[in-house]
Amino acid sequence: MTITPDTARTAPAPKGTGSLVASDGARYARIWGVGGYRPERVVPNSELVERIDSSDEWIRERSGIVSRRYAAAEETVVDMSEAATRQALEAAGINASQLGAIVIATVTHPYQTPAAAPILANRLGVTCAAFDISAACAGYCHGISLANDMIRGGSAEYVLVVGVEKLSDFTDWDDRGTAFIFGDGAGAAVIGPSDTPGIGPTIWGSDGAQWQAIMQREPWTDYRRPQVGEGPFDKTVQPRNWPAIGMAGQSVFRWAVWGMAPVAQQAIDKAGISIDDLDAFIPHQANMRIIDAMIKQLKLPADIPVARDIAETANTSAASIPLATERMLRQKEIPSGGLALQIGFGAGLVYAAQVVVIP
Ligand code: UT7
Repeated sequence: MTITPDTARTAPAPKGTGSLVASDGARYARIWGVGGYRPERVVPNSELVERIDSSDEWIRERSGIVSRRYAAAEETVVDMSEAATRQALEAAGINASQLGAIVIATVTHPYQTPAAAPILANRLGVTCAAFDISAACAGYCHGISLANDMIRGGSAEYVLVVGVEKLSDFTDWDDRGTAFIFGDGAGAAVIGPSDTPGIGPTIWGSDGAQWQAIMQREPWTDYRRPQVGEGPFDKTVQPRNWPAIGMAGQSVFRWAVWGMAPVAQQAIDKAGISIDDLDAFIPHQANMRIIDAMIKQLKLPADIPVARDIAETANTSAASIPLATERMLRQKEIPSGGLALQIGFGAGLVYAAQVVVIP
């Protein structure tokens, strides 16, 4: 390469000798409290089967789903987040004013911008950092990892992580592969400082080659929008197709069954424990058969409680793990202070797993 006069220019000398102050956080972090919100309306399989030529029996057998909850028409992702958050704050015994950051994991907040998190912050009367993340059914476990790092790195003392979905807004009632799968709800966790490790190393990753396996079928831009030089936006024009979420069920099923048990095993190994040390297994609630296959592959001892929230909650994507955790704690199935293995996986395809101390 020829050295031009421009690149050869000598860099200016540094201005001062002072060193930057780096943030310094807590030694460790743990989950302090969880909360959950399940919308009032219970929707049994029988309400959905006619349009997709299915049956209650088929849905139960193939997915384990018996019923799901749907949010009311006017009920939003932020409303559900707020309900779950208030419970989580109470369980953690802290005030919203102590939060240093709010992270909402969701793929169904129906606004490209602003994010749901600052609206939730405003509802809680706080002005801390607030942003959303998009990691689909793995969103909550991504959020737990971020919260752990933020607390240990000193960016926040307490972090709120919410997993929330209103999937009923993005469900195609005529799609046999998805119409019965999804549900609505919110789960929240408050993460704070700890003297001992409360969140093990996260094993996470992506398989973007399969990005089409679960996806919003139409981009938002398929709404008719004015081109440069055209007149104002025509608000009467409807989108060509509602951007419902579609899924190549069998491919995702295979990926989850064969790919996710090794990820879960790595999370156990990296946490420095063995499978017998677990007090709970809380996988993403995607399909009861996937849960059973993972139990088998992990050789999970029979006496370890497993989340089977899918039966009555269906697949609530980012909300499924915190919702299942909240139920298991409430029903006293799992011990406070015990160890839970949690793993989320979904659209992207993306995944994240870690062992956590049960609040
Ligand atoms: O949350 C993110 C991650 N998501 C997942 O992990 C979901 C993974 N996928 C699944 O859970 C499953 O693929 C489904 C539950 C969605 C579907 O179950 P499946 O066992 O994979 O069904 P399939 O698509 O292989 O279909 C099996 C049979 C077919 O009939 P034939 O060809 O064997 O005669 C389908 O036509 O079942 C039929 N079928 C249905 N029958 C009644 C497909 N959908 C339905 C339906 N009702 N809704």
